[in-house]
Amino acid sequence: MAAVDSELIRRAADAVAERLGSLRPRVAIILGSGLGAVADAVQSAIRIPQSAIPGFPEPGAPGHKGELVGGTLEGVPVVVQSGRFHLYEGHAPDVAALPTRVFARLGVTTLVVTNAAGGIRLTFRPPTLMLIADHINLMFKNPLVGPVAEGDERFPDMSDPYDPALRRLARDVARTERIPLEEGVYAGLLGPSFETPAEIRMLQRLGADAVGMSTVPEVIAARARGVRCLGFSSITNVAAGLSAQKLSHLEVLEAGKQISGQLEQLIRGVLQRL
Ligand code: HPA
Repeated sequence: MAAVDSELIRRAADAVAERLGSLRPRVAIILGSGLGAVADAVQSAIRIPQSAIPGFPEPGAPGHKGELVGGTLEGVPVVVQSGRFHLYEGHAPDVAALPTRVFARLGVTTLVVTNAAGGIRLTFRPPTLMLIADHINLMFKNPLVGPVAEGDERFPDMSDPYDPALRRLARDVARTERIPLEEGVYAGLLGPSFETPAEIRMLQRLGADAVGMSTVPEVIAARARGVRCLGFSSITNVAAGLSAQKLSHLEVLEAGKQISGQLEQLIRGVLQRL
């Protein structure tokens, strides 16, 4: 198992800080598949290609752009990651979590994670948005494995992986803006194959409401550094076996696009109230 490289985290953070100049982001936002629109809403945008950041690989998943965008959103200094690193691309968990550790080093105290997910709860009608209440790590990998990275906690508490106060804020925004917002448990699987119907029945019994292939490594790394998290799943499809329809990545991207306006509205509303 490769050690988490504290020196690399430092170099990556220095490279990003240099590009951002006087901007000190407070909030980082990681965008999921087909949810890239938020990056275009950033004001006074400073675009940093991920290829310019030490340790950041080129993004591979279609629907992911591969840049960090610094600037302001609703007056809040932010950094947006458009193009995350998935374990299913072959990246080690500490690579998936590298941007999160870099954001924490830059002074970010709040992480907003978004993803596309399959809906397991039978009442979910895609496309719809789900506030992530909790997660189940079924990737069987953890970015904290190995020697403790400088700034990480060895055994972080995971009682509140998704901050209760931020979730309350998100529900308030949804209510006032009249955005339908479900809330439930996200199961993170390695992928990249979609689940079998039997796996979905298993996940139902385990208490999962949605299933996806990301987010868990980033949230674990964030909690190890005391960064509070807020997560949204864009439920892009009914999970395997729960409808007659076959699953496709194209459908996921299309449904993500349909719902990304509401997701942006929710994120903006939360930022206004921070
Ligand atoms: N399963 C896993 N990941 C996903 C799905 C799904 O059904 N939809 C979007 N991402």
